Amino acid sequence: MGKPPNLFAFNTADELAVGLRAFVIDAQNSALDRHGIFRVGVSGGSLPKVLAKALLGKVDGDNPLDFSKWEIFFADERAVPLDHDDSNYKAVKEELLDKIPTELGTPIVHPIDVKYLDDIQEMADQYEQTLVRSFAARDSVRTPMFDLLLLGCGPDGHTCSLFPGSPLLRDDSAWVLPISDSPKPPPKRITLSLPVAGHGIKIGFVATGAGKKEIMRQIFDTEEGHQLPCGLVNGLGQERVSWFVDYPAVEGVAFPARRGSL
Ligand code: 6PG
Repeated sequence: MGKPPNLFAFNTADELAVGLRAFVIDAQNSALDRHGIFRVGVSGGSLPKVLAKALLGKVDGDNPLDFSKWEIFFADERAVPLDHDDSNYKAVKEELLDKIPTELGTPIVHPIDVKYLDDIQEMADQYEQTLVRSFAARDSVRTPMFDLLLLGCGPDGHTCSLFPGSPLLRDDSAWVLPISDSPKPPPKRITLSLPVAGHGIKIGFVATGAGKKEIMRQIFDTEEGHQLPCGLVNGLGQERVSWFVDYPAVEGVAFPARRGSL
């Protein structure tokens, strides 16, 4: 058995941003040492905003971020046009991509192919091919290993677009899956599969606010919670997983949270 996930709790959104920034920079630097490129998968929800706060804040001295080496993928995406308000791409673009100072470089970004909005199986297959092109052929890589996955946690314990009780959780062969009946709107989406979501070299969850405390208690303190999608990612990723939360989100959680530092 490996070590359990890390749970880092912060007093304020500003402190959380500082902790998340250090985590991302560390992941970036190890990835660049390893293979000269930084492959990141990001979710939607509140994450793009928090991530932008972490990465775009004022820095004293040299900025270690080198976006020219970043390749950004979507851990899940809604099947909507890229300029639709529900699009995770749009959120990441408006919150982060459009605001990256030129001197920090421009990342390669992999949005969904909107040609397939009416055929989400094809959209998922095409997105999987996008991963294959970047992570090498499927037959030589069983499961792609993102250098960093940045995920959210829904109030029901979902992550990416993997929802509690979904048959998608049992799929251990696809890298990317379609979902047509997401309980969280919009219904049509694609998502990384559970094995891929749990396989990141580093996996960061961000969960803030008192609205998350009940699900956090279940995920960290109960056997049933270990079977929820976020709990399953914790189980697969173990100490490769770090949670960035505020205190209201972990009020009443028995699992030990470390005070806002790495
Ligand atoms: C999505 C997200 C989803 C999200 C969680 C948490 O596209 O809907 O990727 O998995 O991360 O629902 O959302 P909040 O951070 O907004 O609570």
